[in-house]
Parts: sequence; structure tokens; C-alpha cells
Amino acid sequence: MSVDHRNSEIAELKEKIAQLEKALIDSQTLCAVGELAGTTAHEFNNILTLTINYARMGQRHQDAETRDEMFDKILEASNRAAKIVKVVLGLARNRKPGKEPTDLKELVEAVLLLLDREMTKYRVSIEKRFEDTPPVLANGNQIQQALINLLVNARQAMPNGGTIVVKLQRCKNAPNYAEIVVRDNGSGIPKEKLPRVFDMFYSTKKGPDATGKGGSGLGLSTCKRIVEEHAGKIRVESAVGKGTAFTIRLPIAKEENKA
Ligand SMILES: Nc1ncnc2c1ncn2[C@@H]1O[C@H](COP(=O)(O)OP(=O)(O)OP(=O)(O)O)[C@@H](O)[C@H]1O
Ligand SMILES: [Mg+2]
Repeated sequence: MSVDHRNSEIAELKEKIAQLEKALIDSQTLCAVGELAGTTAHEFNNILTLTINYARMGQRHQDAETRDEMFDKILEASNRAAKIVKVVLGLARNRKPGKEPTDLKELVEAVLLLLDREMTKYRVSIEKRFEDTPPVLANGNQIQQALINLLVNARQAMPNGGTIVVKLQRCKNAPNYAEIVVRDNGSGIPKEKLPRVFDMFYSTKKGPDATGKGGSGLGLSTCKRIVEEHAGKIRVESAVGKGTAFTIRLPIAKEENKA
């Protein structure tokens, strides 16, 4: 086989690999949407069950006090359902590729609301440390996807439960950037493995867990791709037995940059 022929075969194969990588990334995105749909359906089922029970209780009890209490509970549950619908519809509608000034607090709150049930189930509590940050230039959907990957990884690193600290802050050493930090107190990552965690297909998990998540080794490579497409940076710090922190750094939207 001539060298030319071989070179063109290699080029063809490289092209194929690039196409397959893209197809995989797309399917990871679809998986994330599918998972969200699943989570939402469960959450809704819970809320409906609660609402029905409160309504029955209200019917059974004639005294004003119990009825008022049940109305309050129904309102609370329905408000929660309305919030979830808003977030999921936002995610489903906002599939456009562009970036716009995006409020990180709102975005993070929406993701935490979606994962609330899953975190409770695995006895993981969330500690929010939010500073006020100016809007960043971002595709909200993609950043939410990256954040979901980080939060699910953090949860999976703490099989016996624990705490995830989610921080929002303006970068001290780079004021044109804001940061989201996701820190767990889980297993940690050994030093020699740390450089590999962003590689495609790198995974130490045996396969998906009971919620169907983990094991494909695509989560962090997707996060990295998304963040870099935003002219941002993602970094990791970890200590075995202590925990891991991932930091996503994103550029603040222009108007603010000038100020
Ligand atoms: N918070 C964390 N604590 C400990 N190890 C982690 C953490 N986040 C990632 N890792 C390690 O990095 C590996 C790669 O993570 P990544 O999210 O890319 O893949 P995955 O979680 O195994 O599979 P999936 O593609 O389904 O997310 C994990 O298998 C795990 O070994
Ligand atoms: Mg993962």
C-alpha cells in the first residue's frame, strides 16, 4: 500500500472518529435531557400524591384551622410543581446554541431544584454559598448540563452521603470572570489519576448506578468542552479521603467588563 494511500486512510479514520465523538457528545446531551424528564416525572408524581392527600384531609376535617393548613400545603406543593415546570420548559425550549447574559444564581438554583430529590435520596445535603455575581456570557442550557454532571459525580463520590458545597463568586485574581465551585467531601481522586479525569471515556465506575447515571466516562470531557467553548476554564483539586472541588470559570458579560 502506498504512503499516500495510507495517509488518506488515516485521514478518513480520523474524520470518522471526530464524527463518532460528536455523535457521542450529542447522545450525552440527550441522556441528560432524558434523565431530567425522568426526575421531573417522579417529582411530579410525589407532588400530586401529596396534593391529593392534603385535599382529602381538608375534606375530612371541617374545622377552619385544619382546612387553612391543608390549603397552605396544597399551595406550597403546587408552587413547587410550577417552579419545576418552568425550569424544565426553559431547558427544553432554550436549545438554541447562542450565548447571552445569564444570571448564575438563577441557573444554579434551577439545577439544584431538579436534583433535590436525588440528593435527598442519597443523603447528600447541599450547602449554598452564593455571592452576588454579575451576569456571565453563557448558554444557560449547556452550563446547566455541565453543572448536573459535576453534581452527579460529587454525589456518586459520597456513597454514604455527605455535603456538597456550591459556591458562586467573582474571581479574585481575574475580576472579569465569575466562578461556580462544586465541592464534595467524598472519596477524592488519587494524584496520578487527576490528569486523566477530563479524558473522554475515562471512568473508574463499574457502570451506571441505580439512577442510571455514571460509567461512560463522558461527563467531565463534556463539561470541559462546554466550558472551553465559553472561553472559560474548568479545574479540579482533590485529596484522597477528603474530597474534590471542581471550579468552572466563565467570562462576565461585556457590559460589566467595561465597567
Ligand atoms: N467528584 C468526584 N470525586 C471523585 N472522583 C471523581 C469525581 N468526579 C469525577 N471523578 C472521577 O473521574 C471519572 C470521570 O468522570 P466522568 O464524569 O467524566 O465520567 P463518569 O462519571 O465515570 O461517567 P459519566 O460519563 O456517566 O458521567 C470518574 O469515573 C471518577 O473516577
Ligand atoms: Mg460523571
